[in-house]
Amino acid sequence: MNLRVIEGGRDAGSVSGLLVTGASAIASLAGGLRRGAAQDDVGLFDAAVVGGLGSPDAPVLACWEGRVVGVGPRATVEAALEAAGLPVARFARIDARGGLVTPGLVDPHTHLLFAGTREAELRARQRGASYLEILEAGGGILSTVAATRAASDDELLDHGRRWLDEMLDHGTTTVEAKSGYGLDLPTELRLLEVAHRLGSEGPVDVVPTFLGAHAVPAEFRDRPDGTEAYVRHVIGVQLPGVAAQGRARFCDVFCETGVFSAEQSRRILEAARPLGLEPRLHADELAPSGGAELAAELRAWSADHLGAPSDAGIDALAAAAEGERPVVATLLPTTTWFLMKDVHAPARRLIERGVPVALGTDFNPGTSPTPVLPLVLTLAVLQLGLTPGEALTAATVNAAHAIGLGDEVGSLEPGHAADFVIWRVPNVDQLPYWPAADLARIVVKRGVVVRERT
Ligand code: NIG
Ligand code: FE
Repeated sequence: MNLRVIEGGRDAGSVSGLLVTGASAIASLAGGLRRGAAQDDVGLFDAAVVGGLGSPDAPVLACWEGRVVGVGPRATVEAALEAAGLPVARFARIDARGGLVTPGLVDPHTHLLFAGTREAELRARQRGASYLEILEAGGGILSTVAATRAASDDELLDHGRRWLDEMLDHGTTTVEAKSGYGLDLPTELRLLEVAHRLGSEGPVDVVPTFLGAHAVPAEFRDRPDGTEAYVRHVIGVQLPGVAAQGRARFCDVFCETGVFSAEQSRRILEAARPLGLEPRLHADELAPSGGAELAAELRAWSADHLGAPSDAGIDALAAAAEGERPVVATLLPTTTWFLMKDVHAPARRLIERGVPVALGTDFNPGTSPTPVLPLVLTLAVLQLGLTPGEALTAATVNAAHAIGLGDEVGSLEPGHAADFVIWRVPNVDQLPYWPAADLARIVVKRGVVVRERT
């Protein structure tokens, strides 16, 4: 892709004021987490309905020192800026050239850091092997754990930079990154440290999550009580070490029949919370396993995958959605696709029941090796039945809330980070319409242009 990359993180080359004009539409996503019918409302300012791009009411986006200071009709925003002592003449201009402007995308579920690849599993799955059979045979997550333990910090950093770069190419400006390919304290800490370093380097923000309970590692598997012994190790050794390190914000568990039971997951997540690690779950990815119910009971920040939740699990998430902070259902359709499954997360039922839905790539070497969040939007429309607007909401404001950053990123409203994308398409419906195409023309992170197609 022919891009001019502006290196050096979020402070390089920043200008105080930026005014984006010439947008066919700006989807602000302002106003907080969306659920039910509101999931389809992208907070749109559409030039066409106010007289076109030349109209004084055509939408603009104004940013000052890395923050949004105004979004809406040009005349209104400019008058407000002048009144606030921010003369429009001092703003650098970016012409959106008739493109759509959205918040920078937020990927709320990735396994960013790993070593090695697992392409052999494609043929195994074609021959009928299931995901858990491959894992039980010592492949799957366990083969990635072996490769990751053997990788140096520099190798992991290089890997992380490469894939964060590709995510940014496709408009993603904030990423959650799980550990979980160490499964011993030293390697888990290294993964969390590397995730933190990558976020500090910028420009993409990285939110580290501890996923020590991703699988039972080989050294515990020979023991008759291996899973239970490993759960005790996660609680007694890994969690205190991770908390003392202070990098992870969340604790995740692969809550799945045959991996960690709901009861074991509960013990881990309940031990994590007082240490400052907030709960999120891989819930019912492959079979109903009590994960959705547990996520609702613990008021986790998100219940992820939900490929096969029980009816009771959906009821529990719907009940939790009535509360002050709903559990976000983070759906990962590229995973189902890559696992060659034709059963999909019940996205429409979740939306109809008022559960806020987010979307993520699940970027990982086994079940979803794609860094392209707009492709996830496409599959969400094609396979989960989301509208393009619901899908955009899911990958911006709802995703931001799923990782506890709803007050900072995921929407364009005064005070929030000036993270946005100018797309080479004129409307929201065209975002999922071009599967995996390079659609991001300009990407801005905290007021700095970090990608620009020349
Ligand atoms: O979200 N299911 C658990 N974790 C990942 C896959 C990890 C892997 O296969 O390496 C997932 O699908
Ligand atoms: Fe995952």
